[in-house]
Amino acid sequence: MTLKTNITEMFGIKHPIASSAMGPFRTTELAIAVSEAGGLGMISHAHQSMDGRETDPIVAMKKNLDYVVEHTGGIFGFNIRTSRLTPDCDKFISETAKHIMANPKLKEQCLYALTSAGSAKRMPQNKDFQKLRENTQIKHFHVAPALWLADKCVAAGCDGLVVTGFEGGGHQSYEKVGGLVLLQQVQQKHPDIPKIACGGFATGAGMAAALALGAGGIAMGSRFIASKDSEFHENYKSVVPPAKAQDTIVRTGGLGTIRLWRNKFSLAKGLVKSKEEKMAEEKSLVDHRSAISQEDLAEELRKDAIAAFATYDGDVENGYVLLGQSIGAINQIKSVSDIIETVIKDAEKALKKAITFME
Ligand SMILES: Cc1cc2nc3c(=O)[nH]c(=O)nc-3n(C[C@H](O)[C@H](O)[C@H](O)COP(=O)(O)O)c2cc1C
Repeated sequence: MTLKTNITEMFGIKHPIASSAMGPFRTTELAIAVSEAGGLGMISHAHQSMDGRETDPIVAMKKNLDYVVEHTGGIFGFNIRTSRLTPDCDKFISETAKHIMANPKLKEQCLYALTSAGSAKRMPQNKDFQKLRENTQIKHFHVAPALWLADKCVAAGCDGLVVTGFEGGGHQSYEKVGGLVLLQQVQQKHPDIPKIACGGFATGAGMAAALALGAGGIAMGSRFIASKDSEFHENYKSVVPPAKAQDTIVRTGGLGTIRLWRNKFSLAKGLVKSKEEKMAEEKSLVDHRSAISQEDLAEELRKDAIAAFATYDGDVENGYVLLGQSIGAINQIKSVSDIIETVIKDAEKALKKAITFME
């Protein structure tokens, strides 16, 4: 049995399960494994290409798209963070769209464009992306961490939403709304737009809940980090099975609110600033107004980048170990195909059981 939803229909995939965007890390091997298993793989907004060393994100994106399409016949997507701190964001969108347009295989298989952490309008307003949208079946989704942000995505003409609750790992929002409430809110107001539920999902029971709440699929990050196929360092993966849900903390990173595993690095990081404070800091950096906060923010971004590379090399004490509360529900490192099969099987079981409650 398989689960047929508006997400499996929209993308022509077997299972309504996607891997999450997990920049600045490279997630090409993971994307391939997820797509091969019948899900929707995700190429992250990374600063690393195949050798894992630092490079320009636009160069990394093109190399990573080429690598993934060479290694799978499945469907996949990519993420671009449209934060105003993303350098050359419009160029990034243009170059990515043009790169996909130039390769017939990418045009057929790269069907999921996910933006996040900034404006939902940036991608649909881009001329090269418009051309790609007219000439392919690509769908544009944006991450919605609050109802008012879901409203903005709908107004921007998104094809779908990644509804992401605060329990999720890594980049989070100032809104701090849990996924359960958020999904209900978004479903009430926007019942028809396709939704991928994200943040805190690791099991079939969780997936069944998401489907009952109106989502057509789920995206998982932490669950897939702890897989045999992901390119995360073995030390990073090993953190997950013994960890408890309480072992993550929320801090302020260069790009805003982040949820990390509790370690030396995250404990030394600043507590979440107010949204207004952070926005003012970002604005001053972008407008080159205040030398002091520019330096602070540049230093914060530099420290995050160094810590991300430490993690890449396996230093999970001093590194940037982004994980969500779902780690409390993950007990084993398994292959991606095993994870997807088990989640689908258990979701079906949970849904069938729920039906027996009806008279
Ligand atoms: C290592 C890591 C990196 C992340 N980087 C990004 C990113 O670049 N862009 C983004 O939109 N979300 C990012 N996120 C958030 C995820 O896309 C997603 O919301 C989260 O993994 C969901 O929670 P889960 O880990 O419980 O599944 C990141 C999460 C992790 C764990």
